[in-house]
Amino acid sequence: MRKFAEAAINSRYLIWIVLSIPALEYMHELMYPSRYYPEMMQKSGELSIQILVFTLCITPLALVLRYVEWGKVVARWLLKTRRYFGVAGFAYAAIHTILYVRQVFDLELVWLEALDWPLGTGWICVLILLPLALTSNAKSIHAMGKSWKWTQRLSYVAIIAGFAHWLLLDFFIDNAMVWIVPLVIAKLVHLGFRLYSRLKTRVPKAQLT
Ligand code: HEM
Repeated sequence: MRKFAEAAINSRYLIWIVLSIPALEYMHELMYPSRYYPEMMQKSGELSIQILVFTLCITPLALVLRYVEWGKVVARWLLKTRRYFGVAGFAYAAIHTILYVRQVFDLELVWLEALDWPLGTGWICVLILLPLALTSNAKSIHAMGKSWKWTQRLSYVAIIAGFAHWLLLDFFIDNAMVWIVPLVIAKLVHLGFRLYSRLKTRVPKAQLT
């Protein structure tokens, strides 16, 4: 039973199935438009940004979890599955964009709206996420070598653009703040760990205690 549970948790197919569940609603909406368009846009946009924030919080979360006995297993699982979450975040951003383009149904208007900050920032976000998602496989990691890690850092530019898009469209800034604050805290924790480990390698242990 335990072996079965372990295999299920580590199965990438199961992770993909779970991450795809919300997509069913959007696929249905794309094929048979029936729901209220602003509601679908808000839901798909928020879901995308929430998954992306979670993905960016995984490394600091794993660093903290390492200090708890049971946390080590969770940390390892999170780090192993991180790229699936990143790709899912992009996929929901893509669905969100398709819903928009289908609603507007006028490429000239899409272009004109993209030239304004509120939607332009959305395009910046999705266009940065596209190559990151396409290169998140083992083959690309191997082929790109050191530059892969550097390129993945562009995800921070993407999330800043995504939040700018959200803040410029939403009348209430607290909706976005609920996700901006944990991300900033997580990044500060990450920075703290990196500074500490740099110090530890430079200063002999005796001087640190
Ligand atoms: C091609 C790029 C994009 C376009 C054209 C676009 C367009 C839109 C539109 C038309 C809305 C509805 C605004 C309203 O209800 O008045 C919206 C909302 C939203 N979008 Fe995007 N979007 C894009 C990319 C993204 C991306 C990449 C994300 C997230 C990573 C995102 C997150 C959101 C969020 C959170 C909302 C809800 C705002 C609210 O609460 O009113 N969008 N977007």
